[in-house]
Amino acid sequence: MASRRALVCSFFIIFVSIISSYDGLQEDPLNNYLEEEASGYDSRVYPSHYSTAHEDGEYFKNLVKLRSEVFSLQKVSKVGGKSTPVRTVNVRDFGADGEDDTEKFEKAWKEACSSSEGANVVVPRYTYRLKPITFQGPCKSKITLQVNGVIEASDDLSDYKEDGRHWLVFDRVQNLQVEGGGTIDGNGKIWWQNSCKVDKTLPCKDAPTAITFYESRNLVVKNLKIQNAQKMHVSFEKSKNVQVSNLTVTSPEGSPNTDGIHVTGTQNIQITDSVIGTGDDCISIVSGSKNVQASDITCGPGHGISIGSLGVHNSKDYVSGVTVSGAKFSGTTNGVRIKTWQIKTTVTKMNY
Ligand SMILES: *[C@@H]1O[C@H](CO)[C@@H](O)[C@H](O)[C@H]1NC(C)=O
Repeated sequence: MASRRALVCSFFIIFVSIISSYDGLQEDPLNNYLEEEASGYDSRVYPSHYSTAHEDGEYFKNLVKLRSEVFSLQKVSKVGGKSTPVRTVNVRDFGADGEDDTEKFEKAWKEACSSSEGANVVVPRYTYRLKPITFQGPCKSKITLQVNGVIEASDDLSDYKEDGRHWLVFDRVQNLQVEGGGTIDGNGKIWWQNSCKVDKTLPCKDAPTAITFYESRNLVVKNLKIQNAQKMHVSFEKSKNVQVSNLTVTSPEGSPNTDGIHVTGTQNIQITDSVIGTGDDCISIVSGSKNVQASDITCGPGHGISIGSLGVHNSKDYVSGVTVSGAKFSGTTNGVRIKTWQIKTTVTKMNY
């Protein structure tokens, strides 16, 4: 009898947990997504109830079953915000074929972005070519951009006449996941050759950042190769709640200004398990960025990890709450370089 009461109690707790987590998603799916992701389904609560309940084998089985149902319910509601399946949008269906795929990607994005059930934008194995393009938000629901193929930048300089500073831009997109195991290639050689840092006789001109996330929230960027950026590889600007993991970011040692991951005006960003070797900083953190964690980064060649920027006098631009742990440096000119003194920083477990 005692074990039965304990069981009722367990069921009750699990049920409350279903309701409360589902409610959270309903209230504000945009804001809650990452918090849900971080706190998740707190399985640590349950073992104590299991130990009382498992005297009765059958109830225990039911409990396990219910628990896995709770998990799958959570999975579904996390992806779509509701338990409806997400729409699949394949860029090949829009004619993407490696010629100039800019408009085709734009159309695919528009369809995905206006889908209220959420969308999975699939970029199948193949090589695609893009001019500068903006993936405009906000979108109606969560989007996953699944890059299995190779996305290559146009290296025709005239394609960058309108905006010479960006290639791929995600502008005000919330709840976006970019992943897929594919490659994003900035095709930057032509820009490096024309850099005044490489050829001192040339005037200094700006070059495009390969991927920019601007004013975006709740981002996951993982399992990708990003290489040969025209200038910086990935830049998070004025963004919030960002998880970056398992990126391989590479460009030649001599390529100018090719920071791996640049963080500016961004809050709550975790960069983990990534290999970065470029011609400039592996990671650079500037301009009011707050709560930045970098862990298990393999950095080199390059300039190391830099925090703060030189010559910033404005107090609101202070960088704060930066933690770097478990970084490995090889062939870098610096390890972690702190450029300003106004920051609270923890640097632990470094291997050189
Ligand atoms: C990391 O990303 C690569 C693709 O760049 C992928 O092949 C690999 O499976 C990923 N590793 C993990 C642990 O997800």
